[in-house]
Amino acid sequence: MMKKWWHDKVAYQIYPKSFLDSNEDGIGDLRGIIGKLDYLKELGVDIIWLSPVYQSPFVDQGYDISDYYAIAPEFGTMEDFDELLAEAKKRGMYIIMDLVINHCSDKHEWFQKALADPEGKYADYFYFRKGKDGKAPSNYRSYFGGSTWEPVPGTDQYYLHMFAKEQPDLNWENPELKRELFDMVNWWLEKGVDGFRLDVINYISKEEGLPYGNESVGKMMGYVGIEHYFYGSHLHDYLRELRCKAFDTTDAFSVGETPGVGMQMARLLTGEDRHELDMIFSFDHLETPGHTRFDDYRYDLNYLKQYYTEWMEGYGSGCWMSLFFENHDNPRMISKINEDPEYRFAIGKLLGMIQFTLRGTPFIYQGQELGAINGSFTDISQIQDVESRNLYEEFCRTIGEEEALRRILAGTRDHARLMMDWQEVCRQKNDRESIYYFYKKLIALRKKYPALVYGEVRIVHKEKKNFFAWFRELGNEAFYVECNLSEKQRKRPPRPEGFCPLLSNYSRIGSRMQPYEACLYRFKKEAAVCGEGSAKAPEGR
Ligand code: NOJ
Repeated sequence: MMKKWWHDKVAYQIYPKSFLDSNEDGIGDLRGIIGKLDYLKELGVDIIWLSPVYQSPFVDQGYDISDYYAIAPEFGTMEDFDELLAEAKKRGMYIIMDLVINHCSDKHEWFQKALADPEGKYADYFYFRKGKDGKAPSNYRSYFGGSTWEPVPGTDQYYLHMFAKEQPDLNWENPELKRELFDMVNWWLEKGVDGFRLDVINYISKEEGLPYGNESVGKMMGYVGIEHYFYGSHLHDYLRELRCKAFDTTDAFSVGETPGVGMQMARLLTGEDRHELDMIFSFDHLETPGHTRFDDYRYDLNYLKQYYTEWMEGYGSGCWMSLFFENHDNPRMISKINEDPEYRFAIGKLLGMIQFTLRGTPFIYQGQELGAINGSFTDISQIQDVESRNLYEEFCRTIGEEEALRRILAGTRDHARLMMDWQEVCRQKNDRESIYYFYKKLIALRKKYPALVYGEVRIVHKEKKNFFAWFRELGNEAFYVECNLSEKQRKRPPRPEGFCPLLSNYSRIGSRMQPYEACLYRFKKEAAVCGEGSAKAPEGR
């Protein structure tokens, strides 16, 4: 695969509202981010992905944009943003923005103009449809509960919104709308941003006529109507157009948020010859099959092994993966795997080991480098997120209050949106055995040894349950990683000859593997000197 500038980089997602509040108004802000660039640089971060910082009524925390050209005053000013860009550049870091172009806010002037003049040009920027017999035009269900169709008061019209009713979907069939979006993207690129994360980008092409959704497909997939907008027939054309008319002008980087696309579709979206997206976020590995985010269950790491084995072996050499476990929409991964505090740090390091030594670009979500866990919410009144609140109402009607609360507390996005714990950062920076140091060390190794970035991945011991191991090989360089995926000790399989310990989440590499143990070894010609791998502590845990 042709080398791209983002292949050997480490990305870090900032959720601005809860990163660092510099003016003590209770909301994180751009100046807070500027003040922590050195922290991120020291950790080894190269690319910062900023969740939306545009002007917004914040119904969906910035994913409802009311002005694509303005910074939300809650976060600061355009001058602050320019300073952030300049300060990042000074440190050799890159900034990528969130691009939310499947929908905007109902307070955006386009939507306001569309409401004011249903015959005017802006009405066609959205999906307005007549109701049927006093009911919504179709049976589509919104991701945030209820119908996707909101009635326009005083008319027989409804408009489409996949998410909250304050987030009307944009009509990509309209060439003028597309032109406005491409111009906006170019405006930010000219300013100096290095790329974009594209919000639910596989939903932008809707089937003509928005036909009724098949109820059984909806039941299977979780959302009625999904077959008419998920991976629609014009998606590839739209993405190519976006790429040619915008991204290509500065070789900008793009990572698409594409829930539900499996590996085959992902290859069509990201293959290097396809000219569409550079990477995608696929979410199939975030829940064990048969479970959804709102199930209160324990995540089985054997599924993660199966998932990565499939993608590492099947995605293809012309595609490049994003490697991530967390973001602002999901509970913390450590909590999903095992809530016993005894294992928190071992699991945190194990996840880091997997993320930084497989093939792809790692994305850390803020706080992950500290081993952040879920919040301890007990009541719906503590929950702010619009998705959780809407679904709670819906669940209450169907499964009762108690079960509704249990589900919401298991899956609420607010777990990931708690304020970043800067005191914990200080503590971990002073502790050489912390997760923070482990991450820092892993990132440094990844930067030192090209085999950890570009090397072939060869997964071994596939049949062994609760054990995940692989080689990374490039020229004369080779690494071996072994992980115990469970809280039970296990016998350590024989270590391949010539490999010496480089990094582990335990101080001693004995004949038995400890709970969630993860070790990285490096091939050395003079391997005899590192002995049988029992007593020698690896370099800097
Ligand atoms: C995906 C974003 O990550 C999420 O936070 C948001 O609510 C929806 N898209 C709608 O924009």
